[in-house]
Amino acid sequence: NPTAAEQVSARIHVIPDFPEAGIQFQDLTPVFSDAAAFKVMCEALVAPFAGRFDILGGLEARGFIIAGGASILTGAGVLPVRKAGKLPRRVITETYELEYGVASLEVHEDELPAGSRVLVIDDVLATGGTAQAACRLIERAGWNVAGVAVTLELEGLGGREQLSDYEVFSLLRA
Ligand code: PRP
Ligand code: MG
Repeated sequence: NPTAAEQVSARIHVIPDFPEAGIQFQDLTPVFSDAAAFKVMCEALVAPFAGRFDILGGLEARGFIIAGGASILTGAGVLPVRKAGKLPRRVITETYELEYGVASLEVHEDELPAGSRVLVIDDVLATGGTAQAACRLIERAGWNVAGVAVTLELEGLGGREQLSDYEVFSLLRA
């Protein structure tokens, strides 16, 4: 039987030169659209952290999809870690670097009880800027980072190094 990593990897489409020349874009949409592969992926991302988290922190936008699937499998809820300006109540904001410019992520400051253990979930870890901002938000809110789980880690971009304070699990590396 194929492993979880093999089942998921078989569904990823690599698109050359998107969104610009020289970038090999790893498209995970075929994983999301295949119910069996999607379930296997969600299961594999939470398994290393079993019993060690209270809630799934999904990073907008693609992390929302995985966190939602993992929520149904585990019975843990979802903490939406949103891009700036979307949340209606009092927020905490963290700004992070993009290749061109900056972006911000936000959570409601009172969303969870103090000390809640949040497992950060996303599709891809590249430079680590997005996940690092999410981890800082969680800690500033008075919660704990249970770990960071991603489907695909793009190696050589410094993501794992940037997240050296945390337990990072990636199902696939490229
Ligand atoms: C992509 C990806 C990760 C992030 C990884 O999200 O889904 O969240 O980049 O990059 P990093 O490790 O260098 O921060 P993106 O911001 O493109 O948007 P989306 O999830 O809303 O599509
Ligand atoms: Mg994203």
